Amino acid sequence: MPTKLVLGLQHGDEGKGRVVDDLVQNWADVVVRFQGGGNAGHTVYDRRGNKFVTHILPVGVLSKEVINIIARGCVVDIEEFCQEVSDLNVKAGSNLSVSGFCPIIEPTHRIIDRLKYQKKLGTTAKGIGPAYSDFYARDSILVKDIVDDPEQSLIKIQSKFFSLQEKRAQDGESLETLRPDFDLFNEWVTKYKEMSEILGLYRLNNENVLQDYYKKNYNILLEGAQGSGLNVFSDNYPDVTSSAPSVGGALNSTGLSHKQIDEVIGVIKSYKTKVGSGAFPSIITDGQEKVLAEVGQEFGATTGRPRQCGWLDLDEVKHAVQQNGVDHLCVVKTDVMTHIERPSFFVHGRNYLLSKINLVSSFDTGFAELLKQIEMHTGINKISYTTGPKRGEIVWYSNKYQDNKLKE
Ligand code: IMP
Repeated sequence: MPTKLVLGLQHGDEGKGRVVDDLVQNWADVVVRFQGGGNAGHTVYDRRGNKFVTHILPVGVLSKEVINIIARGCVVDIEEFCQEVSDLNVKAGSNLSVSGFCPIIEPTHRIIDRLKYQKKLGTTAKGIGPAYSDFYARDSILVKDIVDDPEQSLIKIQSKFFSLQEKRAQDGESLETLRPDFDLFNEWVTKYKEMSEILGLYRLNNENVLQDYYKKNYNILLEGAQGSGLNVFSDNYPDVTSSAPSVGGALNSTGLSHKQIDEVIGVIKSYKTKVGSGAFPSIITDGQEKVLAEVGQEFGATTGRPRQCGWLDLDEVKHAVQQNGVDHLCVVKTDVMTHIERPSFFVHGRNYLLSKINLVSSFDTGFAELLKQIEMHTGINKISYTTGPKRGEIVWYSNKYQDNKLKE
């Protein structure tokens, strides 16, 4: 069976992008983003060290021969979408399609997110929560609405925007504070026609295409965004995102069944980072967090915000492994741990010291100990790991991906 699902098992920013990228290079024929929106930032470095970041587009767009789909569980900001296809030079009619059923992130959603949730929850202010709220209330404008009837869709978008501005005025906000949003909205409206036409060029024309690819035995890679700690259906609610970065989220969005998922690959960083509000039991406060943040370049790829650093929380990882039926773990940013004097991990509610990690190799005592602890506490013995940040610096548990690429 040819479907693999890559999930983050922490609080996002695990480094899923480069794991997906490696599978794109060596295995995948189709890559599908299935939840979230422009709140994600998947960073990939090629062999020369050039950096690429994707937000709403699947990482596979960086490889021209791979088919990419944004599935209906994603929320799409059409302005960001147009910008990203232009920045990454993803031509219409080549290797990217977006489901007609994706809800649109409207300018109003971004404003509500900024005003109501950015401070309260530390959201990315990309409009994610308000866009999903409208979706579940069945008030969304979908990609297909914009493409099939742009005028009518614009009327709805304008009406929602003016209602919000009116309410803000009634609540006592001055014209001065409202004006920047009017200006931004007017600018957005002037670009709307062009943006809706561009979007139309990328619209997926067969919503059942994944089942067809599956029947043809294509290698399908489902690319998760964020991580299980941010799952809206988790105990961390409300300190979460508004989608489900989980097997459940992938199934709802793609229309594949659980029986069609061959392997769930859970990605974890060798330590943990977090942005936004909520508990962080394994947080480091003895100064070593600064080393992790500096060496690991722990700043948000989407917002530039500094990430808080802590030890690898194996209670959290074990929970995510169980909930998602993870088969295989990939540990990333292992090289960062070689800069740490007293590396530790967290399990059963407390920290445990590891031997110093001198080298990312199973022959290194500290590194072997880390892998052993991960295996012991998660029950997963299929563990791969990265050795550095660049493309190719990854040691897969087995080499089978290399041999399995479907020839066109
Ligand atoms: P939202 O997804 O923008 O609504 O933000 C909700 C929470 O999820 C906040 O704590 C964000 O910092 C966090 N979050 C959203 N996307 C990411 C991500 O890609 N990486 C890490 N944290 C994220």
